[in-house]
Amino acid sequence: MAKREERFVIIGAGRVGTAVGHLLQGAGFKVAAVASRSEDSLRRAAEFIEGAVMTTDVVKAGRKGNAILITTPDDLIADTCLSLASGGAVRRGIHVLHMSGALGLDVLEPAREAGARTASVHPLQTFADVKGAVKRIPGSVFAVTARDDATREWAEALVRSMGGEPVPLAERDKTLYHIGAVVASNLLVALEHAAELVYQEIGIYKDTALKALLPLIEGTVSNLRRLGTEGALTGPVARGDIGVVRRHLECLQGEERELLLRVYAALSLYALDLAEAEVSKSRCEELEELLRHYL
Ligand SMILES: NC(=O)c1ccc[n+]([C@@H]2O[C@H](COP(=O)([O-])OP(=O)(O)OC[C@H]3O[C@@H](n4cnc5c(N)ncnc54)[C@H](OP(=O)(O)O)[C@@H]3O)[C@@H](O)[C@H]2O)c1
Repeated sequence: MAKREERFVIIGAGRVGTAVGHLLQGAGFKVAAVASRSEDSLRRAAEFIEGAVMTTDVVKAGRKGNAILITTPDDLIADTCLSLASGGAVRRGIHVLHMSGALGLDVLEPAREAGARTASVHPLQTFADVKGAVKRIPGSVFAVTARDDATREWAEALVRSMGGEPVPLAERDKTLYHIGAVVASNLLVALEHAAELVYQEIGIYKDTALKALLPLIEGTVSNLRRLGTEGALTGPVARGDIGVVRRHLECLQGEERELLLRVYAALSLYALDLAEAEVSKSRCEELEELLRHYL
């Protein structure tokens, strides 16, 4: 990937687009233009990306580059790509990429039909704001999806230039790949919210509840890093404490906690899968029967 030849265009000046533009500039690439829907986002992007044309005109921006990164919300990628292609911003041989983990390359089809090389590069990471994204993109794993080797190699070089670690991902596997990411990150947050609600029931209020839980969460993440999932699992299922598990399940019975009861039972079955090496076969079977009863 030749630094002098590439002229990047970012469409969608949100968290990811702004951070990627900033990191590409930092790596010595030219960011020719940034397009977004609102002037506010463009003003913020200008604080991170110097000297690029800032515009709300997607096609005008697209025409200025030979590598277009579409970083709008996922639902708008297909329409944005269509606008770029039908507006004449996609020339033969340029690269057009998106950064969604959930979507395949079909959403970039208008660009491919216009002769572009299409790919997706998805950082397996969570970004709550631009600064966080600038900090966390370097060192993150990126799933790279392309339909030919040359485009994949180009996309991998792009990822490396931002300090990311590329891994190839087949287009047909993207949905399952994204389910894994959602379970690991978004649903973990949902789970912590469920714990918050339980603590609120016993009078520990919202801010206090999360504050009390955070050292426990951090300790768990630290154990995961050191010991992997099997080694990190503690608690009643890992110990085979059927009496405790039964008491928890009984406490959760009733209309108000029905959802948490099912979540508890379902996730405990996954925990049991990890505990099987430590807990006796007969205890595992008894636990499994008990848990399945509450699904
Ligand atoms: N955030 C994450 O944790 C994360 C992680 C991995 C991958 N991704 C992927 O990265 C991509 C961007 O996500 P994000 O979190 O950066 O989203 P975001 O912060 O919501 O940014 C999306 C930006 O797109 C702009 N936009 C909306 N409609 C537009 C249009 N019609 N034309 C041009 N710009 C438009 C919005 O502009 P205005 O602000 O101007 O309205 C907004 O700034 C998505 O594909 C997402 O799946 C995100």
